[in-house]
Amino acid sequence: METTTTLVAHPDHAVLWHDERLYLLDQRLLPETTAFVVCESAQDAARAITDMVVRGAPAIGVAAAYAVVLAARARVADAGNHWRERIAEDLRQLAAARPTAINLSWAIERMRAFMASLDHLDPVPALLAEAKRIHAEDLAANQRIGELGAGLIASATAVVTHCNAGALATGGYGTALGVVRSAHAAGKITRVYADETRPWMQGSRLTAWELMASGIPVTLQADGAAASLMARGEIGWVIVGSDRIAANGDVCNKIGTYGLAILARHFGIRFMVAAPTSTIDLSVSSGAEIPIEERAADEVLACGGKRLAPEAAEARNPVFDVTPAALVDAIVTERGVIEQPDAAKLERLMGGS
Ligand code: MRU
Repeated sequence: METTTTLVAHPDHAVLWHDERLYLLDQRLLPETTAFVVCESAQDAARAITDMVVRGAPAIGVAAAYAVVLAARARVADAGNHWRERIAEDLRQLAAARPTAINLSWAIERMRAFMASLDHLDPVPALLAEAKRIHAEDLAANQRIGELGAGLIASATAVVTHCNAGALATGGYGTALGVVRSAHAAGKITRVYADETRPWMQGSRLTAWELMASGIPVTLQADGAAASLMARGEIGWVIVGSDRIAANGDVCNKIGTYGLAILARHFGIRFMVAAPTSTIDLSVSSGAEIPIEERAADEVLACGGKRLAPEAAEARNPVFDVTPAALVDAIVTERGVIEQPDAAKLERLMGGS
């Protein structure tokens, strides 16, 4: 995989189709370096997803949709009319790139269904158009989520967010940070307290970069600082994204989200989850059925390339947790807001789909 710094890096351009190839802003290098990894094949894209060049559930989904285009182009070139049989393995590998964010398999299944409807000899232009639609729809969904979420915030307040659920994590604008953008524009957000989000530091490396680029006041804090901040009474909302929402409203998100939700309930602070409907997975009845990714222990044992723990120390690194629906005040999607989520409300929102 080649790397380039020739494109202009912007939080809204984490995933780009350019020059017939897929460009991914390398989120492992931010904020110090802005470089794009160039994917020429579905295998390149799968590796980039596994290695977190691109991360955040909706952004992973958008990248995967473009990766299907790369796969189709390669299979048409080497198998002609038999491209459909040959592409199945590419799609399987892509879907296995990360286990928790449902947007990955959602996007692949949408591309697969679209593929089945095609009768052209060359499927690539139509598949590219579908991938671009997925990308544009995600951006539009986030803008609508921003409006709806901002509407829930009654008056100007400071908020807490965790991880990065911004433009970098989506097709653009962001989910949790989309709400922050819209609410800030409406004068309803005085400051964002961003958890640094150990061990991968999405908060300090990505959320701080993104909000500063947008002129939104942001203060970083150690993950353990949330309770004492909340106790001071200045926080009106916790606003987070999600990687997968179960049929009963349980919310899977970055490790540490569950603790924040418990704190929010303790201090009477409202807890908002902002996510597109592509993050809702009605096939899992509760959060207990969601596969939780465990990444390398080294992410915990070291930071910025420097070992922090004794040589023989052991560590576990589950990178997501599940917040029970009972601790969630609102799930905000592009189709509407669900307050106090439960299975019946989610089923109604999804229209039985
Ligand atoms: O491991 P990551 O960085 O892919 O995890 C991302 C998160 O947990 C985000 O908070 C979530 O995907 C929402 S992204 C809009």
